[in-house]
Amino acid sequence: MDSIETLFSAAVKARMNAYAPYSGFAVGAALRTESGAIFSGANVENAAYPVGTCAESAAIAAMVLGGHRRIAEILIIGEGKALVTPCGACRQRLREFASDDAKIHVAGTIGVRATFTLGALLPAAFGPSIMKAGRTGDESSS
Ligand code: THU
Repeated sequence: MDSIETLFSAAVKARMNAYAPYSGFAVGAALRTESGAIFSGANVENAAYPVGTCAESAAIAAMVLGGHRRIAEILIIGEGKALVTPCGACRQRLREFASDDAKIHVAGTIGVRATFTLGALLPAAFGPSIMKAGRTGDESSS
């Protein structure tokens, strides 16, 4: 199985366990780390709507829990006519652990429909390197 097929089947499986009673919109996500490990997640909604979490967020949390830090690619699966691209907050969450050239595959139930880079979905992003560069107290003269 190639890496996209592996991600697709992991995301399909994760989506089956989505908890989306309010939107009825089940989403699955599966990511591959730079070292080749796969982690997946599904959206988990809440009666207090804003507390719900996205599939990407769950996959990222699983990756961190598993001791990994770098995302090479992620696949997101959801149903409908329009592409299920990651929300703005999840683009920022991905940016923490992925570079501009990381691939974001957007899939429907049949397979991958489009592939973007993170840089294309979140240009001129604020990320960890900016924090390192701007942190006060890093300068030897201060
Ligand atoms: N959702 C995700 O899990 N990932 C996305 O990329 C888009 C949106 C979820 C959040 C919410 O549970 C439902 O889809 C409808 O917005």
